[in-house]
Amino acid sequence: MNHDELVRRLKEEDPVRLRWLHDEGDRVRREHVGDEVYLRGLLELSNYCVRRCGYCGINAGNSELRRYRMTHEEIRAGARLAKELGYGTVVMQAGEDFGLTREFICEAIRIVKGETGGAVTLSLGERNEDELLAWHEAGADRYLMRFETSNRPLYDRIHPPLRGERSDRQALLIKLREMGYEVGSGFLVGIPGQTYDDLARDLELLKELDLDMVGIGPYIMHPRTALAETAARFHREAGAQQVPNTSEFSLTTLALVRLLLPDTNIPSTTALSTIDSHGREHGLSCGANVIMPNLTPPEYRELYEIYPGKSCLQEAKDFHLQLELMIAGLGRSLGKGPGHSPRFRKRAGV
Ligand code: 5AD
Repeated sequence: MNHDELVRRLKEEDPVRLRWLHDEGDRVRREHVGDEVYLRGLLELSNYCVRRCGYCGINAGNSELRRYRMTHEEIRAGARLAKELGYGTVVMQAGEDFGLTREFICEAIRIVKGETGGAVTLSLGERNEDELLAWHEAGADRYLMRFETSNRPLYDRIHPPLRGERSDRQALLIKLREMGYEVGSGFLVGIPGQTYDDLARDLELLKELDLDMVGIGPYIMHPRTALAETAARFHREAGAQQVPNTSEFSLTTLALVRLLLPDTNIPSTTALSTIDSHGREHGLSCGANVIMPNLTPPEYRELYEIYPGKSCLQEAKDFHLQLELMIAGLGRSLGKGPGHSPRFRKRAGV
């Protein structure tokens, strides 16, 4: 698909052709990564963040938010829960928190590996190369970092630089791969000011970066952010070219991701299920093959509110039972083991 064709598909409004595209995402998913749905246990280690991202509720400027950082013992308990529920991967995510030192994370990785024997994914933002290398050596398998948008002026607007240093997530993603990580990235759908042309470019960039995992989800406005103030103006400026942040449009984008990168792992994201009560199933039916159930201790979950309505306060075990039923209802099965992407397996020979 060339650029113009991507734009045309993104602008598609005909319900029959939209349905065809969503089904095509599902078909390509089945053909390339099969019917297994892999579950990744998510631990939100800390809501401290040095950044002031215009979209994100845990940005440093949100002074109303009580901040927390999990202890190694809490991380160990989370890992045990993941093991008990049969999850082959634990994802440790946090704001960009330099209180999570290199050593603290090395030890957390060893704890999780020791408890689960499974894969470890990190999603800790833009950290320096020494840290990223040390964490890979300590046993971390994967790293997730969305580029958020490929439009550089838009990116700079919503993701201000830190201490005057230019943020270059794309360069960092390439380095992560060179270090041996299985690498994931993605973008937001429907950022105020984001156009169809931008989104087509976002899709093309996924392909250029040759990713193993791709996470995308709708932008959800958070009141305590800079974008909440400026959204209306940016929307106006983009006019008819502004992309929507609806569930339907996110699913169309998701299906296109699957068509472009058939053998990657693609989660059905929490953001999608926040705006659509059946978002998880819908995502799984348009190309996704991964779900990331939240294993963060309940008392911290509502503090990790990157967007409103995110925190699912349901107990991990109840949620798991519900997921099992949903997955069986779709005629799919639970993935066993670490669930590396076929793309990574080919590259790494595992
Ligand atoms: N709406 C939707 N997704 C968001 N993220 C951050 N803030 C929001 C928001 N308001 C996403 C970003 C980030 C990921 C961890 O969560 O894409 O990379």
